[in-house]
Amino acid sequence: MICFREKFSLKKYNTFGIDTNAKYFFEFTESEDLLTFIQSSESLKEEKLLVLGGGSNYLFVSDFEGVVLHPNIPGIRVIDEDRANVWIEAGAGEVWDRFIEYCVTCGYGGIENLSYIPGTVGATPVQNIGAYGMEAAQAIDTVYAIDLKTGQRVTLTASECLFGYRDSIFKHALKGKLIVTSVVFKLSRFPEFNLDYGAVKKEAERLGGVTLRNIRDAIVGIRKNKLPETDVLGSAGSFFMNPILDAGSVEELKMKYPEMPLYSVGEGKVKLSAGWLIEQCGWKGYREKDAGVYQNQSLVLVNYGAATGKDIYDLSERIRLSVYNQFGINIHREVIVI
Ligand code: EPU
Repeated sequence: MICFREKFSLKKYNTFGIDTNAKYFFEFTESEDLLTFIQSSESLKEEKLLVLGGGSNYLFVSDFEGVVLHPNIPGIRVIDEDRANVWIEAGAGEVWDRFIEYCVTCGYGGIENLSYIPGTVGATPVQNIGAYGMEAAQAIDTVYAIDLKTGQRVTLTASECLFGYRDSIFKHALKGKLIVTSVVFKLSRFPEFNLDYGAVKKEAERLGGVTLRNIRDAIVGIRKNKLPETDVLGSAGSFFMNPILDAGSVEELKMKYPEMPLYSVGEGKVKLSAGWLIEQCGWKGYREKDAGVYQNQSLVLVNYGAATGKDIYDLSERIRLSVYNQFGINIHREVIVI
């Protein structure tokens, strides 16, 4: 199935719910349709391209004067297995949380801590999504993609993806060059659970014991309490990334703010909590017109209904500056501004 539209509203295609238009919008359910589109649309060759999956990591501050490509490729299939592991391929258009539900129901572990993160499978390697002590990179085996210029099929192994904290080659050398069509995850029949983060273990125990199902349910519950449901309140999850700094450079701050959360991430580096820094600057629950800071988690900016992308962007800049002025720390956006 393909769908090609001109001057198309993206309101339903970005979780912030910003009312913005794409000059062209192309949705497809099979990679062959994209290949035909790339090879046949001479007049579109000069247009800017934007790949939009679940739209949970974008802030549109203006209309997009180019072609939005929306991969809606479905499909989940086991492609290999042995006694301990299962290799399972999911189409880029599969809803990420539905894919986890499928895996947990089958008893395959390795991505359960990433439950309830909005978005589609295709975005998981780009963002290297992470939560509760787990990152997608730990389970990704292979990424299949298409080169947007040549129409060639491309295969990347996990190590070729150069994964880092919320980072991958798709945000750097291959930025804007590829479109992910499917991802293969290596999951385990006998998973080692990752229960170190916050209240996950306690919550799973409260639900009846540490099992794959209870960990998933615990995390869904924790996230529902902390983060807004994007169909009720527009947001893109964490708006900023947690800053990673040299341990030595935060000694002074640590003395001044002994309660400041700090996590060692190895190699002499520490991760600070951007949510905590923003809260200290007094932003938690702040609202101006329809743009605001979520009352349960300061890392999350929200659209109460009619905020424009610019309203949210301007608020984010004020937050960024105030954190810099108070702590001397530069926080960077996780959300991509278009
Ligand atoms: N904190 C505050 N005030 C706040 C928010 C957080 O003081 O407003 C403190 C908390 O009390 C805690 C620490 O900061 O001590 C960490 O908070 P939390 O556990 O909520 O996690 P986070 O570091 O703020 C990250 C991810 C989230 C992920 C959670 C849980 C990033 C940018 N964000 O947030 O990811 O769900 O950890 O693993 O790394 C997302 O990417 O969209 C997202 C929601």
